[in-house]
Amino acid sequence: MKVIENPLEIYSQLRFARAEGQSVGLVPTMGALHEGHYSLVRRSVEDCDLTVATIFVNPSQFGPKEDFSRYPRTIEADLAGLKAAGTDFVFIPKNEDIYRDQHSTWVQPGDVSLPLEGQFRAGHYRGVATIVLKLFNIIPASVAFFGRKDFQQLQVIRHMVEDLNVPIRIEGCETIREADGLAMSSRNRYLSAEERVRATSLSRALKQVHQAYANGETSIERLESMMKQTLEQAPVTSIDYARVVDGSSLTDISIADESSHALIAVRIGATRLIDNMPLVCT
Ligand code: PAF
Repeated sequence: MKVIENPLEIYSQLRFARAEGQSVGLVPTMGALHEGHYSLVRRSVEDCDLTVATIFVNPSQFGPKEDFSRYPRTIEADLAGLKAAGTDFVFIPKNEDIYRDQHSTWVQPGDVSLPLEGQFRAGHYRGVATIVLKLFNIIPASVAFFGRKDFQQLQVIRHMVEDLNVPIRIEGCETIREADGLAMSSRNRYLSAEERVRATSLSRALKQVHQAYANGETSIERLESMMKQTLEQAPVTSIDYARVVDGSSLTDISIADESSHALIAVRIGATRLIDNMPLVCT
């Protein structure tokens, strides 16, 4: 496994591989890796000739009151895990090679970035879209793998790739969960033992609406209040949203159908957690 810091160096190595006909899979990460990330890497290793993971804690996607400086940095363990999962290249750029002093160009994502996270994390998806497009430019990959755990992020990236004609395929991969249903996340390590138990309410609430829809419930109001009740009983500290929306545009709907998607964001103590589930699993 080769670890590369320099954008031009990784670009030229992979450009050469692509010119020779090799497929390149990309797994962008911010480090603090867990089984969810390694499952993306293993998927890439299975599907592609070469697999590149990136580790960069992207400052532009954190708000001023968010956890950029305390975001977990576990580089030694990450590298060991990436090697074990079969990664060929790891790109770990320096901040100054990504955001030069005069940096002034941003990708402003469209409507799909506005509801849900967009209401609570202003500028977050602008930072995500900008870094992801930069990574796509630096790493000439044929396909990029993202977890469905950040479902809105996946939709923002899909829209960006289509809108800007970026020549890459986007694969959305299944959310990896702990045995008790908690979606894996780098932020789970912030939870105390007691908060960790309360955090299982997110997946419980999602499974509940999934089941209710399967039993014939299509009222958005009733599905959403079911989720809120389960979260409040946990109790979570606060609910940012617990919504059932259109699974493609993430806009409001009046009646649930097979393309609807349930999404939750809550705070448990000081930790913000998100999770989501389609009403019908495909
Ligand atoms: O999902 C993440 O870890 C980040 O948002 C990403 C896609 C690596 C961009 O920094």
